[in-house]
Amino acid sequence: MFKKNILCIGAGYVGGPTMAVIARHCPEYQVVVVDINHDRIMRWNSDNLPIFEPGLDEIVSAVRGRNLFFRTDVDEQIDGADIIFVSVNTPTKTFGLGAGKAADLQFWEITARQILKNSSKPKIVVEKSTLPVRTAAAIGRILDSNEKKIHFEIVSNPEFLAEGSAIRDLETPDRVLIGARETDSGQAALKEVVDIYKHWVPEEKILTSSVWSSELSKLVANAFLAQRVSSINSISALCEKTNADIEEVAKAVGMDSRIGPKFLKAGLGFGGSCFKKDILNLTYIAENYGLSEVARYWEQVLEINSYQQRRFVDIIIKQMFNTIVGKKIAIFGFAFKADTGDTRESPAINVCRGLLDEKAQLAIHDPKALDGAAKDLEEYAGQFILESDPYSAASKAHAIVIATDWSQFVSLDYARIFETMEKPAFIFDGRNLLDHRKLYQIGFSVHRIGRPPLSKL
Ligand SMILES: NC(=O)c1ccc[n+]([C@@H]2O[C@H](COP(=O)([O-])OP(=O)(O)OC[C@H]3O[C@@H](n4cnc5c(N)ncnc54)[C@H](O)[C@@H]3O)[C@@H](O)[C@H]2O)c1
Repeated sequence: MFKKNILCIGAGYVGGPTMAVIARHCPEYQVVVVDINHDRIMRWNSDNLPIFEPGLDEIVSAVRGRNLFFRTDVDEQIDGADIIFVSVNTPTKTFGLGAGKAADLQFWEITARQILKNSSKPKIVVEKSTLPVRTAAAIGRILDSNEKKIHFEIVSNPEFLAEGSAIRDLETPDRVLIGARETDSGQAALKEVVDIYKHWVPEEKILTSSVWSSELSKLVANAFLAQRVSSINSISALCEKTNADIEEVAKAVGMDSRIGPKFLKAGLGFGGSCFKKDILNLTYIAENYGLSEVARYWEQVLEINSYQQRRFVDIIIKQMFNTIVGKKIAIFGFAFKADTGDTRESPAINVCRGLLDEKAQLAIHDPKALDGAAKDLEEYAGQFILESDPYSAASKAHAIVIATDWSQFVSLDYARIFETMEKPAFIFDGRNLLDHRKLYQIGFSVHRIGRPPLSKL
């Protein structure tokens, strides 16, 4: 008999790892994770988990079957739960009002109605997904529209984990944010959710607030992180014109304790499923409240991100004598960052498309993301191959493009790679990852972001 029954609807990048960590630290609670995607649940119940995340396999194999369960019978699991976390996807709307900007809340609304239909007793519903500010009011209206007079308390508990470091972020979070209503029932629900995290998170890191502050803080945190990436990338373009070195500039700027060193690494820009959609959502909300200057301000963060990728493609074409038609180019990395297989909004997609539009032939290598690459570039089938071996990818290529900061790319034998490539052999390091001087000594023409090129040409 478990002390409390927790249900999580949505077994994705957030639901899976978050519930695994909760189950690990709260052995007296039963944690059930459900999803409508049968294939995903099947993989959560296998040795081949649906997502790659360092440290995740170990935790899942330790707690699965003990107090962590993955299931597909969403409706049947609802009424047994005291607390329901909802971590379904909230992508950008692609149709109708707000298309291209607003969050698509259809999955959330369907889930709320499912909860309502299958409940016979009061429940706490926790917003785990990233949602527009004031969503709890809308969800509340749906849940309250019941004749059964069941009380649902909505609590906001946005997730701040980053893919690639999800387990570390969940185990030792900077903070856990929980927002609830000021009412007695709101505060009682808040305490229930705080009690879960208190199992392993120090109390001073558990931050409580109103529901609205909590919902908005998540969007703002992502917007601020993305803004730093775009800020440093905008300066990388200026460095290339002035012979300043972006790594030196970032170091000098980041050592100012008011600014700090994180998220000041120039590169191809941010990717992933969250930053773009959350900023679009923020601009849409601002517009809806008549704050068009605020919306324009944040839009520019996205514009610089696309610009950085376009600019990189232009540099590649220009350096390779203004034509890449039929030339083999090896792409090292396709995931949006290291240590994940996720390719959603990966900068590599835009870079590859730019090169494929110029009729290059690509050989794409990534340790975890080749399936994603195949799907993301579907329309270019025949113009690219997927290579699990980086050496084969680079063989007979005119250039290597580093698109993801996987650490294993640093230790490859570039002298061996150089021998097998067409000459002149180029490296375009979109992540400023490799040892450029060494590559130059081997014979490569090295182009990087925001730093003078090392070129023999
Ligand atoms: N991925 C991240 O790094 C991250 C970090 C913090 C917050 N978030 C937010 O968390 C939310 C989830 O993100 P994700 O990356 O885990 O998404 P995801 O697409 O990986 O997972 C969502 C899952 O929900 C399932 N689902 C949808 N409707 C359902 C329903 N009615 N019943 C049962 N299952 C249903 C889908 O099948 C899918 O497996 C989003 O709002 C996102 O913005 C994501």
